[in-house]
Amino acid sequence: MMDTEKFIEESIQNIKDEVKDEKVIIALSGGVDSSVASALASEAIGKQLEAIFVDHGLLRKDEAKEVEETFKDKLNFKLVDAADEFVEALAGITDPEKKREIIGHKFIEVFEREAKKSGAKYLLQGTIAPDWIESEGNIKSHHNLTLPDGLVLEIIEPLRELYKDEVREVGTQLGLPDKIVHRQPFPGPGLAVRVLGEVTKEKLDICREANAILNEFVEKEELDKDLWQYFVVLTNSKVTGVKGDQRDFGYLVVIRMVQSFDAMTANVPDLPWEFLHNVSQEITAKVPQITHVSLSLSNKPPSTIEFE
Ligand code: XMP
Repeated sequence: MMDTEKFIEESIQNIKDEVKDEKVIIALSGGVDSSVASALASEAIGKQLEAIFVDHGLLRKDEAKEVEETFKDKLNFKLVDAADEFVEALAGITDPEKKREIIGHKFIEVFEREAKKSGAKYLLQGTIAPDWIESEGNIKSHHNLTLPDGLVLEIIEPLRELYKDEVREVGTQLGLPDKIVHRQPFPGPGLAVRVLGEVTKEKLDICREANAILNEFVEKEELDKDLWQYFVVLTNSKVTGVKGDQRDFGYLVVIRMVQSFDAMTANVPDLPWEFLHNVSQEITAKVPQITHVSLSLSNKPPSTIEFE
């Protein structure tokens, strides 16, 4: 068992000793690891840390607002709205790996732009033990990030030796809300891999609305404790529905709810039918562009958790 208080105390001292009076930046995603790393470093060096949160327009409903609310008084927090830039870069792209590549490059471009403005010497990262153990073995790497104009950012990884449950303990001890500390994993490319086929602003908005309804029902029924991830996928298929006495042509969405320990395998648990019916009805009632809701029953393997 880790002594959380001792870990926090020592980490704060180490960060202070290393950084001295230099500036540090972090790409804060609002996920557990980068949030805890930010909170920890902020305890150590306060305003010398700049936490940059990039809204790439592929976030869930109200996510940017929630992350901003959580951190704006705790950290030197900067929200960068790059939504239009990302959605434009994705226009016409349907291949999932191509989407990932474009989003990854765009993210680096936006972040580098911000890094240059900040004058930072260090880049803080929320790397945790499982991120490097398998690929690197037990050797501590000294890697730095060199930006295209030759600016070298030295990397600090205060959570490097921790596992997820320990990171959560540190986050709780530092006063981060449960909503952040126990957040379900959300892929870096965000809704771009849950909006199948071409990503457009309209499709993102439809996916966001339906997902928010599922989220609300899951939280109300407290099903989230037993689930690894739960979300709505907007398929690229339009199917016929009926509104009043008119035939209608709208989107088919899929509800995906899985249990897992490490995302390597996943299974679809028994889910209460009443809950599923209620979610389905609410989605078609509140999101008029959707005419059909279905449920994914496939485990991983053979399926993956995400649809793209
Ligand atoms: P799959 O779909 O491969 O997903 O079963 C396993 C876990 O990884 C997440 N995931 C991603 N995370 N960038 C990420 O940061 C990605 O491109 C990506 N693709 C999938 C997924 O949400 C699940 O938790």
